Amino acid sequence: MPPSMACASRPFKLEARQASMTALELLTLISAAILLQVLAVTGMALRKRQQNSQAGVAQASATPVAAVADAAGAWAGWREFRVLKTQFEDTCESQRSFHLAPLDGGSLPPFKPGQFLTFQLSVAATDQPTQRTENDTNETQPGRPVTRCYSLSDSPDPGFYRITVKRVPAPAGHPELPAGLSSNHLHDHVHEGGILRVKAPSGRFHIAPSPALPAVLVAGGIGITPMMSMLRWCLKEQPARTVHLFYGLRNSDDFAFQATLRQLAAAHPLFHLHVAFSRPGAHDIEGRDYQHAGHVDIELLKKTLPHGRHQFYVCGPTAMMESLVPALADWGVPEQDIHFEAFGPASIGDQRATASASVDATATQFGIRFAKSGRTLDWDGRDASLLEFAERHGVEVDSGCRSGSCGSCEIRLLSGSVEYLHKPDHDVAPGHCLLCVGRPASALELEA
Ligand SMILES: Cc1cc2nc3c(=O)[nH]c(=O)nc-3n(C[C@H](O)[C@H](O)[C@H](O)COP(=O)(O)OP(=O)(O)OC[C@H]3O[C@@H](n4cnc5c(N)ncnc54)[C@H](O)[C@@H]3O)c2cc1C
Ligand code: FES
Repeated sequence: MPPSMACASRPFKLEARQASMTALELLTLISAAILLQVLAVTGMALRKRQQNSQAGVAQASATPVAAVADAAGAWAGWREFRVLKTQFEDTCESQRSFHLAPLDGGSLPPFKPGQFLTFQLSVAATDQPTQRTENDTNETQPGRPVTRCYSLSDSPDPGFYRITVKRVPAPAGHPELPAGLSSNHLHDHVHEGGILRVKAPSGRFHIAPSPALPAVLVAGGIGITPMMSMLRWCLKEQPARTVHLFYGLRNSDDFAFQATLRQLAAAHPLFHLHVAFSRPGAHDIEGRDYQHAGHVDIELLKKTLPHGRHQFYVCGPTAMMESLVPALADWGVPEQDIHFEAFGPASIGDQRATASASVDATATQFGIRFAKSGRTLDWDGRDASLLEFAERHGVEVDSGCRSGSCGSCEIRLLSGSVEYLHKPDHDVAPGHCLLCVGRPASALELEA
């Protein structure tokens, strides 16, 4: 080997040894740094979780139940959610979406598209804001607790839940009556950063995963919310499934999710959007802004849908539900292919339950005593449920979902027995019953 090469090779060997030591040291250093980082992040997460759970316990003394997410992300009772953002979905700004994430940083359980969340709001008697932020330790303006349900209006997403709420005014011609409590509170007083108490997703109105069966979604007004969830889920998870959306509304001012729906219709050949305006505006053009003038009714479905079996999902105002649901059955659609949900007290309830109730009416009459109100009334079978019975007689009772899911109408059963139209999703406490899906099986005494 030439000396120059030998000389050259010596330092090279030395450098190589130094380099290999440096690499080892570097590796050790990097490993140590990563370990430190992991420990720091875990520590911060644990501290944040502890702070949040302490906040929950502090509130638990003032409020009935604090909830902690279980390992799978589901939770029992109330859980606090932060409003990530809000946005209007229509041009007249009466339908507002709220994106929500759990305050405890835990995971979100998936839900079935079409299901809803139950909220407990603290609605002040005055118009003063009542929402809390993360920094508040106490509710400064305790208000009246109001329980309401809102459908999830997007497909399941691990990052957030979305609901969309329509502002409910006083009934037409009755400005002396108060406007809707919960919807106006959400619109006026719940902003980004606000905290809401929420029960886990529930409800029996959700899309069946039957890819071979075309889905027909029929939405009237704010009934679009569960349909948005079903639609987005279908297009993503079952792209080979045909989906028709019939969306009935007054005119383009009320058209929620307009841009999204038009984009989805343009992008998915198997998604058919049918928009019906009952009162088109001066600027609305048939064929461009809407396809049908009038309401979504059975005639429209008959003339638009191809022959064959379809699964129908209907959610809309009372008039639409009352006419369309029985009309689908009359058209020959089997019961298992008709799914519907009514929003709120002015709903039709369960037509099938009402039908069987009227048969029972001839058979059994019971005395129902409402202990707090001091009234005893005769159950004559006209009402689909004890909730409707109580409301019809002006007995004050709370309600939310009206389908046995949220627990708002749970009440102490002092004597007698209650039977259910279907098994409630809500776990009924011993000695209690649910009014919304309950009917008397004997004379009753209820604490109301
Ligand atoms: C399963 C389910 C899902 C739902 N999903 C949605 C959804 O996605 N989006 C949505 O916007 N809504 C939804 N709703 C409806 C929602 O839960 C509320 O019912 C709605 O927001 C109205 O509640 P509120 O508190 O604003 O009105 P309320 O206070 O309940 O008032 C309702 C109406 O009664 C009137 N009123 C007040 N006092 C009187 C009186 N003395 N006499 C006569 N009338 C009176 C009010 O002016 C108002 O017009 C859903 C309901 C259910 C059951
Ligand atoms: S109103 Fe929700 S369970 Fe009865």
